[in-house]
Amino acid sequence: MSQQPLFTPFTIGSLKLPQRIVMAPMTRNRAGPEQVPTPLMAEYYAQRASAGLIITEATQASLQGYGYPNTPGIHTDAQVEGWRRVTDAVHARGGRIYVQMWHVGRISHPVMQPGGALPVAPSAIAAEGTLFTTEGPKAFVTPRALELAEIPGIVREFAEGARRAKEAGFDGVEVHGANGYLLDQFLRDGSNHRTDAYGGTVEKRARLLLEVTEAVAGVLGADRVGVRLSPTNPFNSMSDSDPEKTFGYAAGELSRLGLAFLHVMAPVADPRTPTLLPLIRERFRGPLMTNGGHTLQSANAVISDGLADLVAFGVPFLANPDLPERLRQGAPLNTPDKATFYGGDARGYTDYPALTA
Ligand SMILES: Cc1cc2nc3c(=O)[nH]c(=O)nc-3n(C[C@H](O)[C@H](O)[C@H](O)COP(=O)(O)O)c2cc1C
Repeated sequence: MSQQPLFTPFTIGSLKLPQRIVMAPMTRNRAGPEQVPTPLMAEYYAQRASAGLIITEATQASLQGYGYPNTPGIHTDAQVEGWRRVTDAVHARGGRIYVQMWHVGRISHPVMQPGGALPVAPSAIAAEGTLFTTEGPKAFVTPRALELAEIPGIVREFAEGARRAKEAGFDGVEVHGANGYLLDQFLRDGSNHRTDAYGGTVEKRARLLLEVTEAVAGVLGADRVGVRLSPTNPFNSMSDSDPEKTFGYAAGELSRLGLAFLHVMAPVADPRTPTLLPLIRERFRGPLMTNGGHTLQSANAVISDGLADLVAFGVPFLANPDLPERLRQGAPLNTPDKATFYGGDARGYTDYPALTA
């Protein structure tokens, strides 16, 4: 069993991972007032410390980056203190933990924004459908296109968030460039219709992602920074006319930075994965993490085929605090309870049993 590729050690930057099973970032909407991480969150992450690496739920580096109720922030002293309890608890159990940092862009609503302002985006194009806000479901509004002069401020917020992440004891930062949030909104041409230095060609659309990543790397060192991308995920009304070109370019440029890893959502069941994953593997020369619908078998296969070095598990980790041990033993997995994914208390959060419980 110990010969399985998933259970061989791997090094990212200066971190030695005992195996290649990563806990994927998952928003659980359980932060306290003022978006401060709670002791319950520390317990939840500590329970999962046997992961090769934990990547936290998406965490906003500014009030403008906030879009769903009770997601944690990392822009106040109280939030840093809350996160310090989390990282201490994970490290005490021998784990490693990166914080995923986001700005939601247009995936917010005036009721969630400072001063009731419009959410911001590359272009004034609304996402379709509704959003769950602190005041219940609301239709998406048309966001305000960021002024060119505001963009350096966004980059600075991520850099400041990285400084606070270091203070909070994180081992690194994953820049959230996926799933239709601000950096992805700039990257894909369905949501970016700008005609200035941040829109039009793929070089210009990728610029904000690259500037943010470089700024975060400037604070932490590139070997403590990862980036997440989701080339084909349509979530949040996202589309791109040429994902191979867009994400091939982004992967190639990110490759120059010497990052800890690139994390690409390339679902096992997506018919475009057999084209996109090898392309990204070729363009990005550093450690590559993949995610989306993996099982023990598919995770071993993607590593032994040379297509990735690490595999992130989302829902299986949510429902199984001791996922690595269960996979190692081939033990049955707990059934996830979707009703408690987003928000609530300890139920469906810290009460999934471990094998030995
Ligand atoms: C409850 C839940 C919350 C999620 N929140 C985030 C998030 O904050 N950031 C992110 O990049 N992806 C998020 N995702 C996506 C997961 O990281 C992962 O890509 C997805 O669950 C597919 O992997 P899986 O098949 O192993 O579950 C979330 C998924 C779930 C189920």
